[in-house]
Amino acid sequence: MRTAQIDIHLTDADADAALRADVLAGLTASPKHLPPKWFYDARGSELFEQITELPEYYPTRTERALLERSVDEIAARSGADMIVELGSGSSAKTRLLLDAFTRAGSLRSYVPQDVSEPALQLAMDALGAEYPTLDLHGVVGDFTRHLDRLPGSGRRMVAFLGGTIGNLLPAERAAFLTELRAVLAPGEQLLLGTGLVTDPAVLVPAYDDAAGVTAEFNRNVLRVLNRELGADFDVDAFAHRALWDAENAWIEMRLVASRPMTVTVAELGLAVGFAAGEEMCTETSAKFHLDGVRAELAAAGFGVAQVWTDPQERFALTLATAEG
Ligand code: SAH
Ligand code: AVI
Repeated sequence: MRTAQIDIHLTDADADAALRADVLAGLTASPKHLPPKWFYDARGSELFEQITELPEYYPTRTERALLERSVDEIAARSGADMIVELGSGSSAKTRLLLDAFTRAGSLRSYVPQDVSEPALQLAMDALGAEYPTLDLHGVVGDFTRHLDRLPGSGRRMVAFLGGTIGNLLPAERAAFLTELRAVLAPGEQLLLGTGLVTDPAVLVPAYDDAAGVTAEFNRNVLRVLNRELGADFDVDAFAHRALWDAENAWIEMRLVASRPMTVTVAELGLAVGFAAGEEMCTETSAKFHLDGVRAELAAAGFGVAQVWTDPQERFALTLATAEG
């Protein structure tokens, strides 16, 4: 087995500084908000994996079915020798790509990148055993900050799956795509998974499941703040809420204070008041129309090579090429 390398672009000190800045800005804003990247400590990453198995959470199984149908076509069109994956998590669906690109004979290396070191380490350990001849090069990093430090050049395909791009706000998305285009050579590719706008009766339960796993995932961000910043959130005093915002075409997850509270964040010397019923946004998960995906990619300098959708048009995979 080859030795796998892990680059740390986000050190503990760096992550701590970023968390402090985000929490200070988010808890002193009106309305209050927290960015979704802080869900993913070891427990949050495990809860996300549980979400992917829920009957209501269709995105993962829909994207997996799409990949099963289209990986050989993707591999043939791509010819990439390196797959770089952003927000790779458990890399579960990626194995379909690794297998197809290996069958096609082009693949030499796989670079999973994630902000969550425990999730990345777990995935790398399993992949090392399953793909002993593949060069594995993990990166702990933030895809909104560290794209310029990704390894390789020339024949890469960047995979950004799961609909995670929808967790960026529109301006963040535009900046992300522009930055990604800037670090790619002309001809290098992006394989982008996007949730599509569909019936709210399907969308909302996907983010508010009967078993309460998404609620636990949502509240986990408060546990992260308690542990990392010495905050004293009474986690059980916050209820989970998911709503469909048709105007912005996104699902919004919120935490709702069930009673008036003052929360202290010891490490920030901060005391924050919550009114009964006050709602704090913890995640937006945008859903797209196909022409919107194409337009956002074009604005950043990507040309669409091919799009695959499921029969119910709930999810899309888009293969795009960095234009010269
Ligand atoms: N791609 C996987 C996992 C999606 S969950 C799938 O399709 O199932 C989202 C993943 O993105 C998590 O593993 C989380 O840790 C990671 N993530 C969230 N924000 C990130 C950021 N800013 N930079 C890098 N990774 C991030
Ligand atoms: C990672 N991301 C694409 C998930 C989503 O669907 O927006 C995160 C998630 N939030 C609640 N459930 C799953």
